[in-house]
Amino acid sequence: MEPVLQVKNISKSFPGVQALTDVTMDFFSGEVHALVGENGAGKSTLIKIISGVYEPTAGKVILTGKEARFDSPREAIASGIAVIHQELSIAKDLTVAENIWLGREMRTKSGFLDRRRMNAETQKILDFMKVHLKATQIAGKLSAASQQMIEIAKVLSQNARIVIMDEPTSSLSEHEIDALFEQIRILKEKQVSVIYITHRLKELSEICDRVTVLRDGRKVATMMVADVTQAEIVTSMVGRKMGDYYHKRAHTRGKEMLRVENLTRAGVFSDVSFTAYAGEILGFSGLVGAGRTEVMESVFGVTESSAGKIFVEGEEVKFTEPKQAISKNIGFVTEDRRRTGLLLQKNIVENTSLPSLPFRQKRLGFVNRRWEKEAAGKFMEKLRIKAPGMYTILSTLSGGNQQKVILGKWMAADSKILILDEPTRGIDVNARSEFYTLMNDFVESGGAIVMISSEMPEVIGVADRVLVMREGRISGELTGEQITEHNIIKLASITDEPDLTPGSKGEGME
Ligand SMILES: Nc1ncnc2c1ncn2[C@@H]1O[C@H](COP(=O)(O)OP(=O)(O)OP(=O)(O)O)[C@@H](O)[C@H]1O
Ligand SMILES: [Mg+2]
Repeated sequence: MEPVLQVKNISKSFPGVQALTDVTMDFFSGEVHALVGENGAGKSTLIKIISGVYEPTAGKVILTGKEARFDSPREAIASGIAVIHQELSIAKDLTVAENIWLGREMRTKSGFLDRRRMNAETQKILDFMKVHLKATQIAGKLSAASQQMIEIAKVLSQNARIVIMDEPTSSLSEHEIDALFEQIRILKEKQVSVIYITHRLKELSEICDRVTVLRDGRKVATMMVADVTQAEIVTSMVGRKMGDYYHKRAHTRGKEMLRVENLTRAGVFSDVSFTAYAGEILGFSGLVGAGRTEVMESVFGVTESSAGKIFVEGEEVKFTEPKQAISKNIGFVTEDRRRTGLLLQKNIVENTSLPSLPFRQKRLGFVNRRWEKEAAGKFMEKLRIKAPGMYTILSTLSGGNQQKVILGKWMAADSKILILDEPTRGIDVNARSEFYTLMNDFVESGGAIVMISSEMPEVIGVADRVLVMREGRISGELTGEQITEHNIIKLASITDEPDLTPGSKGEGME
């Protein structure tokens, strides 16, 4: 069988960076081909070359046997290549339908925009996808997950032969991931060739046929997913054997850092109480939509709560804006990092010093350049931020490396209480491991961490104590041996309370 798409000896260099070197691959119809590799390995760059965003420095893209030269993404789309990019490209002020048909609007015979037909077509696709969205909704008002669904709907509307997805699941919940996989299966049946980038390696066996590993811009290997283990893939990604990367350490609980009492935001969450202690990693588990992010936003002063109290180191506080929380040494790594946490046109040093700057400035009367540089250097090394230097502009970093800058920035901010919302999404296995070590060091030096995570192994692997939320309420607390996948799922999804008294052998409990 002839491949529908080939890349031959592709190289790409940017100033100071060799992003790809001599990459040759082929892609077949009806196959899901995964592309994996560490942050900065060159995955996004490769698909940007395939889809006409970048021109390769050397090499060819061959589409059904003929060399393709795309001078723009539009030409690639016209040739049947559809892409969901890592950075969402939703126009916030437009409706769902307008986003989907942007640049290729349907027109009536007399040349007017045919909104009715576009809305109807869009609704058909959305219904087919079984997502509860309306074609006429304003995109900017939707959640990140729904916006991702718009991107997927757009791809479906393009009837492409080749569909490329760059980390499509990084902002989706389990339920939505299932819906996405269903779409991918349908694409496969339609003999579409799917190129799939992910850092969640367990997805490989669920949906992918072959996998190609990139390391430092070079192809390491292409393998049948059925023939390799996850561990083998990780080994070829990082170039060495990796042990268990959740170094669970037993921590000693210190003093109370953050106490939340009966926090309520009408209609969103109610009666949420918890305490975070120094020396402890407190996990927040639950299904996406259970209200975890919303609770933390209220704690941090992003949104107002309608009832309840918050205490920081025993002292009652009322934050009406994040600035006040930051001044009490609370840091918040938000879930939607690419949109809320970074200045993309500034360099790594400037971004690292962002939250701490006002205080340091006040204390010293001027920006402490040396401190800035030291802090940025330290986190660049610890989190393995891949960039030509610390004065590299953020927009030129790979997606995962941009996220690492945010993690570094809050760790550098002298925070005593860190709230992390899905901190390792989009971060490669190697850097994750480093990040967990940093988290452990942080609490061992007297800090408290509250970590929201939808990744079960992560919660189980790093948290000392886990609170599970369900439908806006805390449904239970697990410590030590009780922290198992089974118990978490039970608390997250079922309405009758499981028996969690110590030593009990309740039905089906581990
Ligand atoms: N426009 C650009 N200008 C300069 N350097 C760039 C540009 N785009 C990418 N790079 C660099 O090329 C390398 C590969 O980046 P790429 O985005 O392809 O990585 P990736 O494999 O997609 O990583 P991630 O998993 O973090 O998304 C990185 O070192 C990155 O900083
Ligand atoms: Mg990328």
